Amino acid sequence: MEKKVLISRHEIQSKVKDLARQISSDYAGKEPVLIGILNGVVFFFADLVMSLSIPSKIDFIRASSYGSNKASSGMIKLVKDVEIPVKGQDLIVVDDIVDTGLTLNYLVKNLKSREPASVKICVLIDKTERREQEVAIDYRGFKVQEGFLVGYGLDYAEQYRYLPDICVLKG
Ligand code: IMP
Ligand code: MG
Repeated sequence: MEKKVLISRHEIQSKVKDLARQISSDYAGKEPVLIGILNGVVFFFADLVMSLSIPSKIDFIRASSYGSNKASSGMIKLVKDVEIPVKGQDLIVVDDIVDTGLTLNYLVKNLKSREPASVKICVLIDKTERREQEVAIDYRGFKVQEGFLVGYGLDYAEQYRYLPDICVLKG
């Protein structure tokens, strides 16, 4: 399929540094637990965590939604849970892209039910056109209106995750 670079690796890296600076300043003196939503988040997550100037812990969670490849169907289940006990911890949930908002809201609600001290949300890309549920994003990388994006962890049917730039798929 045809691809066109939408956000270059240089733009990504400079945005990741900005986000890391904000988070490091907001959490000065604390040790947040960053929770990455697998699989798409992996490269963003690694770059972000290594750019923080504060100590942190990391863990991962994974949800799966039934249905087609390009959109969430709204039926979501947890397929991999975090392993660090989150009660009393300052959590930052990190995702690659928010589309309808259903997956992230489902996971955040699930985590909040376990009595963490706080929960904030960090997403690299806020894709707005198909939003169905409002998502309270605390740290946002890029805002994109539409399009199907691949690269820097984002996939289309498990393809293209390895691309270093974020590209838009055509056709
Ligand atoms: P949501 O529940 O609709 O917000 O879906 C979020 C998930 O759908 C993301 O974490 C991605 O895994 C996937 N997704 C949504 N839009 C895109 C895209 O443009 N490219 C790749 N994956 C996407
Ligand atoms: Mg994802």
